[in-house]
Amino acid sequence: MIYSQILGVGSYLPPRIWTNDDLKEIMDTSDEWIVQRTGIKQRHWVEGTTSTSDLALEAAKLALENAKIDKSELDLIIFATLSPDHEFPGAACFLQAKLQTPGIPALDIRQQCSGFLYGLSVADTFIKSGNYKKILLVGAEVHSKGLDKTTRGRDVAVLFGDGAGAAVLGPTHDGTGSRVLSTHLHADGTYAKELWVKAPSMTYEGTYLPREAYENLEHFPQMNGKTVFVHAVKRMPEVLFEALNHNSLTLDQIDLFVFHQANLRINEMVAKQLGIPEDKVFNTIARFANTTAATIPIGLDEAVKCGKLKKGMLVASAAFGAGFTWASAIIKW
Ligand code: ACO
Repeated sequence: MIYSQILGVGSYLPPRIWTNDDLKEIMDTSDEWIVQRTGIKQRHWVEGTTSTSDLALEAAKLALENAKIDKSELDLIIFATLSPDHEFPGAACFLQAKLQTPGIPALDIRQQCSGFLYGLSVADTFIKSGNYKKILLVGAEVHSKGLDKTTRGRDVAVLFGDGAGAAVLGPTHDGTGSRVLSTHLHADGTYAKELWVKAPSMTYEGTYLPREAYENLEHFPQMNGKTVFVHAVKRMPEVLFEALNHNSLTLDQIDLFVFHQANLRINEMVAKQLGIPEDKVFNTIARFANTTAATIPIGLDEAVKCGKLKKGMLVASAAFGAGFTWASAIIKW
């Protein structure tokens, strides 16, 4: 039997930090409002022409280094993002060119906040099938260029940061050692318009970006925050229990929870509902805000770097986001 194993992780945040007080210079907001409702204190935003694949490249190089894998050994790149460099081709193709690994397949995953776990599920299944041996899985976002950074867009703009995280996966035959134990994926497209970017869109007549849509600012994300909150605190525990039951594990057997970082209040409510002790939940949102597909690999890398996540530990992850999509994974580190 072949299992997949995470061989190494890496992450990269662009250097420029915007604190909540910095945002006060460009919109009517306050540190108090943002911290109380979201737990976010600062976020990293790119400068100049830096794109999503640029951030992904830096995270990928670190993940390869930590995995002790040469890029020539990779036989697939999977890139989860909602902010690709261009509409097409996919971000994975741009990353593949920058990484200089021509010829290997490059696959984009567009499942937003659940993107990394969807990607992990694909990578795990591909490795188990024996068709692929070394897979680079990246989650990366440049949100800052796609936000309405004025008072008008403040409800969404303050939530998001730029960043990238990556993992290198490979096969193992050790059914008791370090490996991905399971992944579970879900979606409910009836809520697609509760958190979305309306334009450009092929649903318009004649052109995918009518002047009117642009003038109505439909190219910026729109979110029904309260609906997202209500569904997130329901779906995350649900999918977590699906994973635990699948593996015949109980909550207290999990050493560390690395959840998606949408909002500290969501994660606190999930932990409280389930009775998970605070020190078992690894949150990074205060420093990095919501980096969508990148939050989980950044979280894993940060947890390894600060000694919270060690070999042999059981780590559980769950995510909820636009789509709506939600997912979970349990990994023996
Ligand atoms: N600064 C100051 N005031 C603000 C800001 C801001 N950045 N944004 C909104 N406000 C104001 C509003 O204008 C409103 O003012 P009013 O009462 O005078 O009309 C007031 O604050 C309350 O606005 P609400 O939108 O009702 O704020 P709410 O308490 O619902 O909090 C939030 C908004 C934090 C987004 C909340 O709905 C939430 O936590 N939602 C969960 C969704 C989420 O976290 N999404 C993250 C991304 S999606 C994902 O990853 C799953």
